[in-house]
Amino acid sequence: MGRLISIASGKGGVGKTTVTANLGAALAKLGNKTLIIDADIAMANLGLYFSLHSAPITLHDVLIEDIDIHDAMYDGPFGLKIVPSGLTFNAYRKADPDKLKSAIAPLADEFDFVLVDVPAGVDAAARSAMASTKEMILVVTPDPASLIDATKTRIAAEQLGVHPIGAIVNMRRGEKWEAPRKKIEEFLELRVLGEIPEDPEVRKTLQLKRPVPVVVRRENSPAAKSFIAIAAKLSGKTVKRKKGGLLDRIFSIFRRR
Ligand SMILES: Nc1ncnc2c1ncn2[C@@H]1O[C@H](COP(=O)(O)OP(=O)(O)OP(=O)(O)O)[C@@H](O)[C@H]1O
Ligand SMILES: [Mg+2]
Repeated sequence: MGRLISIASGKGGVGKTTVTANLGAALAKLGNKTLIIDADIAMANLGLYFSLHSAPITLHDVLIEDIDIHDAMYDGPFGLKIVPSGLTFNAYRKADPDKLKSAIAPLADEFDFVLVDVPAGVDAAARSAMASTKEMILVVTPDPASLIDATKTRIAAEQLGVHPIGAIVNMRRGEKWEAPRKKIEEFLELRVLGEIPEDPEVRKTLQLKRPVPVVVRRENSPAAKSFIAIAAKLSGKTVKRKKGGLLDRIFSIFRRR
C-alpha cells in the first residue's frame, strides 16, 4: 500500500509547491513510483515546474466532470507522474474540491508515494486537500509567523484524521534570528525531516524558458542534496554515490591495502 501525503503549511509562500515538485522528483529518482498532485486548485502552479502550463486535461476536469484522474496524469523526470491543476479562474469556480478524496484514495494501490500540494490556510479547499491523504508533512520557514500558522494547520489535519509525520524547514539562511531546528521540533512537537537551504538555484526554476525542478537540473546544488536526503529517509532507500574521479579511485586502491 502506497503513502498518500499532504504537503501543507498554513502560511503562504513558504515553499509547499517547491517541496512537492522536488521531493516528488527525488523520490522518483530513488526508484519509488511517485505521483504529485496540484490540489491548490485556485492558485495552481505545480504544473509550471514541469512545463505543463498548457496541459489539455487537468485536475479541474476531474473535479468538474468526473474525468478519470489517470487522464490528467503527465510524465515527468525519472518516471514521476504529475497531475497539474488548470490555470483559469472559470474552471476553478466550477471545480468541486469534495471530489478530491474519492479521486485520490484508489491511487495508494498504484503508487509508492502520492504527494498532494495543499493550498495555504485552513479553509475548505485546504481541508479537502488534506482530507484526501492519510499523512501530512508541514513545510515551515524558521520564523514565528510560519510556525504559528503551521500549528493551526496541524490541528486542522488531526481533526480530519490526517497524521502529521514531520516538518521540512525551508529557506534556511543561517541568520541569527532564525529558529534553530531543535526549537522548531519542540514548538511543533514534530520531528524535522530535513532542512532546505535558501538556494538561488531553486528560485531560478520558474524563470527558465523550460522550467525543471532543481533536483533534476542541479542534483549537486545544496537544496537538491537536501531534498534527496529527505526522500531517502522517507523511503528507506539509500542515495547511490557516483563513482569517484581518478584521484578517488587511486586513493581507494591504497585504502584497500
Ligand atoms: N529553498 C529555497 N530557496 C530559494 N527560494 C525558494 C526556496 N523554496 C522556495 N523558494 C521560492 O519561494 C517562492 C515561494 O515558493 P512556493 O511557491 O513553493 O511556495 P508555496 O508555499 O507553494 O506558496 P503558496 O502558498 O503561494 O502556494 C518561489 O519563488 C520559490 O522559488
Ligand atoms: Mg504553492
